[in-house]
Amino acid sequence: MDQLKNAIIERGSVVSDGVLKVDSFLNHQIDTDLMINIGKEFARLFKDSNITRILTIETSGIAPSFMAANELSVPLVFARKKKSLTMNNDVYTSSVYSFTKQVTTEIAVSKNFLSPDDHVLIIDDFLANGQAALGLASIVKQSGASVAGIGIVIEKSFQNGRELLEETGYRVESLARVESLQNGKVTFIKEPTTLHI
Ligand code: G4P
Repeated sequence: MDQLKNAIIERGSVVSDGVLKVDSFLNHQIDTDLMINIGKEFARLFKDSNITRILTIETSGIAPSFMAANELSVPLVFARKKKSLTMNNDVYTSSVYSFTKQVTTEIAVSKNFLSPDDHVLIIDDFLANGQAALGLASIVKQSGASVAGIGIVIEKSFQNGRELLEETGYRVESLARVESLQNGKVTFIKEPTTLHI
């Protein structure tokens, strides 16, 4: 997605440890025009997949998921990292270990918001080691629903997330695939050109 790649090049920056800073448009300040188009792109990619619900994880997964859910006219559910005041114990949970942050987070989704009839699109802002997506997929499976696919805004292709998810059999669609962040420079994996006739 060219608008996203241009934003990464022009407004993103590389910080240490292979981490990309995109807080001026994606995960702190939000470029709403870009986010609307991210939603449209996810909707285009998954329009024939009979999606009934989108599942993401707070915080930064919510904005792109909101836009995609709005485009696909399906409800959006986000996994919580902290129990809310009104949440009872009737929840699906999963433990997500972050290699980047070296912490384990227990994520939870109320049993009211996923059912065995659901065909769920999982969306997140970053794909690094795939642990958040696997945790969300585990929650989908616990509910008896099925995973339709995984939509990612920025994939760090030099980490093993995609490999792990594809090995498990999931369809992964990333809007920008970062091949390398070496020497402070962002390079993308070249996608085959699609002819729109
Ligand atoms: P994984 O789920 O693919 O295994 O990813 P990982 O544990 O490495 O990532 C954990 C957190 O770090 C996630 O945010 C993820 O979005 C973020 N992250 C990973 N790589 C990058 C990067 O290169 N740049 C930025 N800016 N963030 C990165 P989180 O803790 O869930 O935060 P939030 O959603 O509450 O904002």
